[in-house]
Amino acid sequence: MSSTDSLPDGIAILDFGGQYCHLIARRVREMNVYSEILPSDATRSDIEALDSMMMVKGIIFSGSPSSVKAQDSLKLDPEILEIGVPVLGLCYGLQLLANMHGGRLEKAREYGVTKAYIDESKGILEGMEVCEQVWMSHGDTVFEAPDGWKVVAHTDRAPVAAMVQPEKQIWGLQWHPEVNHTEHGMEMLRNFVFNVSKAEPNWRPLDTVEEAIEKIKQIVGDGKAIIALSGGVDSSVAAALAASALGKRLMAVHVDQGLMRMNESAQVAEAFKDRGLQLVVVEARKRFIEKLEGVIEPETKRKIIGEEFIRVFEEKAKEFGAEFLIQGTIYPDRIESGLTKNSDTIKTHHNVGGLPSIMDFKQVIDPLEDLYKDEVRGLGERLGLPRELVWRQPFPGPGLAVRIVGTIDEDKLDVLRQADTIVVEEIEGHPFSEKLWQYFAVLTDTKSTGVKGDERAYGYTIAVRIVESIDAMTANFSKAPWEVLERISNRIGNEIPSVTRIVYDITHKPPSTIEWE
Ligand code: XMP
Repeated sequence: MSSTDSLPDGIAILDFGGQYCHLIARRVREMNVYSEILPSDATRSDIEALDSMMMVKGIIFSGSPSSVKAQDSLKLDPEILEIGVPVLGLCYGLQLLANMHGGRLEKAREYGVTKAYIDESKGILEGMEVCEQVWMSHGDTVFEAPDGWKVVAHTDRAPVAAMVQPEKQIWGLQWHPEVNHTEHGMEMLRNFVFNVSKAEPNWRPLDTVEEAIEKIKQIVGDGKAIIALSGGVDSSVAAALAASALGKRLMAVHVDQGLMRMNESAQVAEAFKDRGLQLVVVEARKRFIEKLEGVIEPETKRKIIGEEFIRVFEEKAKEFGAEFLIQGTIYPDRIESGLTKNSDTIKTHHNVGGLPSIMDFKQVIDPLEDLYKDEVRGLGERLGLPRELVWRQPFPGPGLAVRIVGTIDEDKLDVLRQADTIVVEEIEGHPFSEKLWQYFAVLTDTKSTGVKGDERAYGYTIAVRIVESIDAMTANFSKAPWEVLERISNRIGNEIPSVTRIVYDITHKPPSTIEWE
C-alpha cells in the first residue's frame, strides 16, 4: 500500500471477537511492528485508511466464539483479500477463508494442547519441526481445503490444520500461535510478519508515563479527582501517575470492604504514608458483608461489590469536591469483561462491567486501560515505586468474595484468610516463587469428612491455586515442589480446625480462569 517513508510498517488485525485478539496485537507490537485492531465488519477502505498511521504490510483475522456455519455469523468484506498484502486467518479466520472459497467444514471439536504434523515447513511454518505442539480451541473443523489452496499441516482430528493460497499469500492456521501453549507460536507469527509480509521492525512504543500524565491533566483540567486505591500494582501505578498530574487535587480512597487479605488495609496505609499522596481509608466492612448476604452467583457478587464501591467513592468524592474518578483498570480486565462487541463475557471485573450505569461522576478515567500487567509493572518501576509494591501478586477487586464459592460470611472469611496466609508464608522466598504469577487459597463449597484428633470431623475443603503466567491471559498450574505442598497441607490441616481437606488445583487457563469465580 502507498504511504510516506516516515510511517512505521504495521499489521492490521480484524477482531472477530476471539479472547486472544489483543494478544495478537501485543505479540506484533513486541516485534517492534505497529498494529491496529479493527472490528470484523471493517471494509477494504477502512484498512486503506490506516495509511495515515502505518504502512499496512499484512492483515490478520482473529478467532471468534461463534461458528462460520451460524446464520448470523460474522462475515468478511471479500475486497480485503484483493488489497494485495499477505493475510493470515487464525482459527475462525481459517474457517472463514475455507468457507468463503468452497472448502468443506463440519462440526468437530478439538480442544487443548495438540500435536500438529507439519507437511511443508515453508513461509509461516519455516523452521518448524515435523511435529509441533499447538493450542487448539474450535468447534468446527475444515475437512477439505478449497481448490487452489494447499494443506501445509494436519492433526489427528483436523485434516486441514493449516493451509495457504500460494499466489496471494493467504494463510490459515487452525491453532492459536498467539498463546504460550503453542510452543513455537511466536516464531510462526514472526515468520508471517517478517518473512511473508516483509515488515520492518521500525516502530517503538511512546513513553507511556508522559502520555498518561498528560492525558489525565487534559481531562481533569483544573478540577479534582479521586482514585480508588486497592494497594495492588495497578491502582498504585495509576495513583502515582494521577498524583504527578494533579498533586493536591487528587485524593486516594482505600475501601476496606471486609474482603481483604490478612492485615492488608493496614499495609496499604503504611506503604503510602510518606509518598505525598492524600489517602483516606474507609472502613466499610459492614455495609459490604450485609449486601452480600445469601448471594451465591459469582457475577451477582461482582456487580454488588462494584456498585457498593462506587457508592462509597461517590460519597468521598462529594466531600472532596471531585467530579472525576480514576481507576487502575488494565487491558485484560477489559477484554474479559466483554470489551469488544464480538467477544463473550467471561467474568465481570468489578472495576469495569460492574460499574452501575448511573454514576455521580462527570467521567471515569482509566489511564492504564491499554496495558498488560507486565507493562504496568514496567511503568511502576520507571515511576520509582517500591519493589514489593510493583511485584505484588495481583488481587481481584472483589477480593476474597470471589475466592469463596457460594455464600459469604465472616466465619468463612476468617478461615480463608488464615489458609491464604499459610499459602503465602510457605511460598514466599522459596526459589520457585520467582516464576509464579499468583498463589492463594480458595474456600470451596464442598464439605468432607476427616479425622481431627481421634474424632470424626466434617469440615471445609480448601483448594490451593498456584499459577505461572506472563499476562494472565493464559496460565499454567505450577509444578510446585512436593515438600512445599506438603507443608501447606499440614499447616492448614493442623492450624485451622474447621478445614478437613486440602486439594491442589491442577487446571491451566484455559480451560479454567485463574480465580475460581
Ligand atoms: P481470571 O480469574 O479471569 O483472572 O483468570 C485474571 C487475572 O485478573 C485478576 N482478577 C481481577 N482483577 N478485578 C481485578 O482487578 C476483578 O474483578 C478480577 N477478577 C480476576 C485475577 O486475580 C488474575 O490475576
